[in-house]
Amino acid sequence: MAGPRRILLSPPDVGAVERQLLLDTFDSGWIAPAGPELAAFEGELAELTGRAHAVVLSSGTAALHLALLGVGVQAGDDVLVSDLTFGASAFAATYVGARPCFVDCDPLTWQIDSDLLADELARRANRGRLPAAVVAVDVYGAMADGRALAEVCARYEVPLVEDAAEALGARRDGVPGGGYGRCAVLSFNGNKIVTTGGGGALVSDDAELVDRARYRSTQARQPVPWYEHRDIGFNYRMGSLNAAVGRGQLRTLGERIAWRAHLRQAYEHGLRSIDRVRFQQPGTDSRPNHWLTTVAIDGADPDRIVAHLEANGVESRHGFKPMSMQPVFAGAPTIGRGVGAQLFATSVSLPTGRHVAEADVARICDLVGQACAPPA
Ligand SMILES: Cc1ncc(COP(=O)(O)O)c(C=O)c1O
Repeated sequence: MAGPRRILLSPPDVGAVERQLLLDTFDSGWIAPAGPELAAFEGELAELTGRAHAVVLSSGTAALHLALLGVGVQAGDDVLVSDLTFGASAFAATYVGARPCFVDCDPLTWQIDSDLLADELARRANRGRLPAAVVAVDVYGAMADGRALAEVCARYEVPLVEDAAEALGARRDGVPGGGYGRCAVLSFNGNKIVTTGGGGALVSDDAELVDRARYRSTQARQPVPWYEHRDIGFNYRMGSLNAAVGRGQLRTLGERIAWRAHLRQAYEHGLRSIDRVRFQQPGTDSRPNHWLTTVAIDGADPDRIVAHLEANGVESRHGFKPMSMQPVFAGAPTIGRGVGAQLFATSVSLPTGRHVAEADVARICDLVGQACAPPA
């Protein structure tokens, strides 16, 4: 007999439409990273992010790499990066020989603190050591304050890159996820709200930046009848089959966001009786895509919650460990007030997506409550 169903954190949500588009593309013969599916997916992403141009790539990490090259980051430069994020946001700086330096997050929105960033840029301007770029991450499906960040960066003429890997379909102050900064990066890996089974994109209003990324992503080939290279290239282009799946995913993005928003409310309701529970606040005029509902419970032990849920067939995940606390970035300059560290000590991401029913939320909230109770 099959055991009780295991509830995953954020599995791929794909169906008949994606399958049909995938088979149609297969049958069309466009298997390699070329062809009409790529251009069509790029057009749809540009529209969704409010940008003029998009290039689809093999991963969000590849997109971050090409974004930093595109805005001119070089070896020996500093790049300021949101501290509370997934490692890829910071790894990209090291790929170009730059040094990531970290900026703590706001205690309510958990997004990069634009006041801290402004102070840091002012200090660095005085010392004549401005960073070559700022990478601002939209964390857990809500957006950072793109308007404030863009204003601060413009003051010092520092290029701003939006890491919108988690925020496709979100909005803040009328700006779509992927819509602020000189360029933005998207991810379509398996746990994202739109998946292509692995993939990413770079979007921008700057045609030259996007063209150059496309050129670099296909091994920097010169347009001559033999392989001729004047630049270092990368094999970073998305395949057509992946793009076909992505196009199918976009058709139901609205429904998936709506269900995630509903789950967030259900979690708020189900956890209301737990002491000191805090939800990420969306910020002004904000409509997150609710990629992952994440809660911070002061005084609770996230490891205990994760283990108790796991023992009961529910996958959850410890909240992000800030980059400044990662062994690989030990000693990196960090501007902060300890907000990210406090979130790491207290936060857990809970299952989010259409695979989670309302009744599941009630059960998950009960389990969280049990794990937060003092040991008998
Ligand atoms: C904030 C953030 N940036 C970058 C990435 C990297 O994207 P990918 O896994 O597509 O390389 C991810 C997710 O994996 C992410 O969550």
